[in-house]
Amino acid sequence: MKRSEFSKRRQHLLRMMEEGAIAILPAKPVSKRNRDTEYPYRPDSDFWYLSGFPEPDAVLVLIPGRKHGEYLLFCRERDAQIEQWNGSVAGQEGAVEQYGADDSFPVTDIDDILPGLLENRNQVYYTMGRDQVFDQRLIGWINQLRGKARAGIHVPDNITSLDHMLHEMRLIKSATEIKRMRYAAQVSARAHCRAMRACRPGMREYQIEAELLHEFVFSGCRYPAYSAIVAGGANACVLHYTDNQDRLKASDLLLIDAGAEYQNYASDITRTFPVNGKFRRAQKALYNVVLEAQLAAIERIRPGNHWNEPHEAAVQVITQGLVELGLLKGRVATLVRKEAYKPFFMHRTGHWLGMDVHDVGEYKVGDSWRVLEPGMVMTVEPGIYIPPGVRGIDKKWWNIGIRIEDDVLVTKTGHEVLSAGVPKTVEEIEALMRNHE
Ligand code: GLY
Ligand code: MN
Ligand code: MN
Repeated sequence: MKRSEFSKRRQHLLRMMEEGAIAILPAKPVSKRNRDTEYPYRPDSDFWYLSGFPEPDAVLVLIPGRKHGEYLLFCRERDAQIEQWNGSVAGQEGAVEQYGADDSFPVTDIDDILPGLLENRNQVYYTMGRDQVFDQRLIGWINQLRGKARAGIHVPDNITSLDHMLHEMRLIKSATEIKRMRYAAQVSARAHCRAMRACRPGMREYQIEAELLHEFVFSGCRYPAYSAIVAGGANACVLHYTDNQDRLKASDLLLIDAGAEYQNYASDITRTFPVNGKFRRAQKALYNVVLEAQLAAIERIRPGNHWNEPHEAAVQVITQGLVELGLLKGRVATLVRKEAYKPFFMHRTGHWLGMDVHDVGEYKVGDSWRVLEPGMVMTVEPGIYIPPGVRGIDKKWWNIGIRIEDDVLVTKTGHEVLSAGVPKTVEEIEALMRNHE
């Protein structure tokens, strides 16, 4: 991503902040897996969105109207010995030259410098509660200033979260962001196709996961956007199943919810297909209800429609389908009003998608559902889940969990399905699985 894109974002935020304000955003700390082993470092999305800075131990500071620079970056100092073990560090020079900071200081000096930057500021933009250690340090710096109040120093008395301003910006994706998301979705689509081709009765769920991960990493997506769900039969009815240990049975469906992350941008795709490549009659009937619901929901995505319209469309089709199959009884309108579909379809039809898989952005403005605008990206993922042993439900429906999920961009004239590269009709899926021995 070009430096100018990060700079534009900071300028935009600086213009929205009042005069006399200061914004402080720490990078996420490294988390330990055990002793000397760390989890792979993935920067906090808000921090990276504004800085493009990939290192931990950094703090971004924005001060609108400050003569000696509005954008300051505290970061690690260069150290040849440490760099020999852990790789190169940008240092203060790099922060200015490569990452566009107006000025940069060693992060170890922050206790000496930051209280001075807080002096005489009215408003601090900082999100409390994400990093308790940093919360305490900030409170400490402010208290330090209180001690100087008699010397005429004004202490900021207002700490406001940056979330609202920043997340409104993140909700509308730029052309470069869309390119990354499109690539992440394309890679994930290829991975789902690969999983369909590889699937055989008797395999373990994790062996299918290995196929997905191979395609991700091979394509330059080192990490998935979330832990893959590879759930055969009844496991698919556990919405966040990630054990991925069981053996796949020929007569079961396999639900895969997996998406690659590409350069900090997520994709999120679900497909459900028969382990042996051929849908049984009951599976096919329910599958087609979910597919019809998903297509109806996607149809509702266009600028001017509101956030909940796709969900309403999905609920309507699923309720109608469950009535037609004899799984619900009564008038469709009444069943929708009473939410009778919820034992089968208990989650919402989608969420915002972006740097985070469940991305930021409000779903309502005041009491009203948000109106869709070009540049928003959302998932569309209706499902039907019938675990074994549900009383009053014929056995032929048991052990079926179906979800179909795509990533959809709102365009000027309607929408674009970013994840269209993986089939989803019964015929297409059966053909893909048939043609690969
Ligand atoms: N993979 C998480 C979700 O679909 O929301
Ligand atoms: Mn998903
Ligand atoms: Mn999702």
